[in-house]
Amino acid sequence: MAMGHLQHLQFFIPFFLLFTIFLHPSHAEVGTSAQYSPPFLPTACYGYDSGQFPSSNLFAAAGDGIWDNGAACGRQYLVKCISATEPGTCVVGQVIQVRIVDFALTSVSPPSLEGTTMVLSDTAFGTIANSTAKSINIEFQQYV
Ligand SMILES: *[C@@H]1O[C@H](CO)[C@@H](O)[C@H](O)[C@H]1NC(C)=O
Repeated sequence: MAMGHLQHLQFFIPFFLLFTIFLHPSHAEVGTSAQYSPPFLPTACYGYDSGQFPSSNLFAAAGDGIWDNGAACGRQYLVKCISATEPGTCVVGQVIQVRIVDFALTSVSPPSLEGTTMVLSDTAFGTIANSTAKSINIEFQQYV
C-alpha cells in the first residue's frame, strides 16, 4: 500500500472506533456513578504519585464490579450520563474519557454514594452532569 493511504488510515481508525463504540449500543454497559472530591492522594493504584492524574482531571475510582482485583488501574473508560433521579441532571450528548486511579471502597475521600459502578472525580462528574447530584446512571465502555 502506498504511504499516502497509510496516513489516511491513521486518521480514519480513531473515528471508526468512536463510531463503533457509540453507535453500537450492545458494546456499552449501563451502571451508576457517584462523585468524590479532594484529597485524592494516596490512591490504591499509584500511592502518592501526583503524576497519575490526567491533566484534564478526568479520572475515577473503580467500584467493586469493575475493580478486577486491581487490574482496573490505568484502564480508560468512555462515560456518559444517561439519567438521574432529578430530570435535567445529565449534560446531554457529553462523553468523557476517564482513567481509573483508585478503588472506590478505600478512597481517601468517601464517594457521594456507596456501591456505584464507578466514582468520578468532581471534575469528571461535573462535566457530564449537574454537580449537585449525588449519583447518576451512566453508559460506559472500556477504551483501548
Ligand atoms: C443543578 O441542580 C440544582 C438542584 O436541582 C438546581 O438548582 C440547579 O439549577 C441545577 N443547575 C443547572 C446548571 O442545571
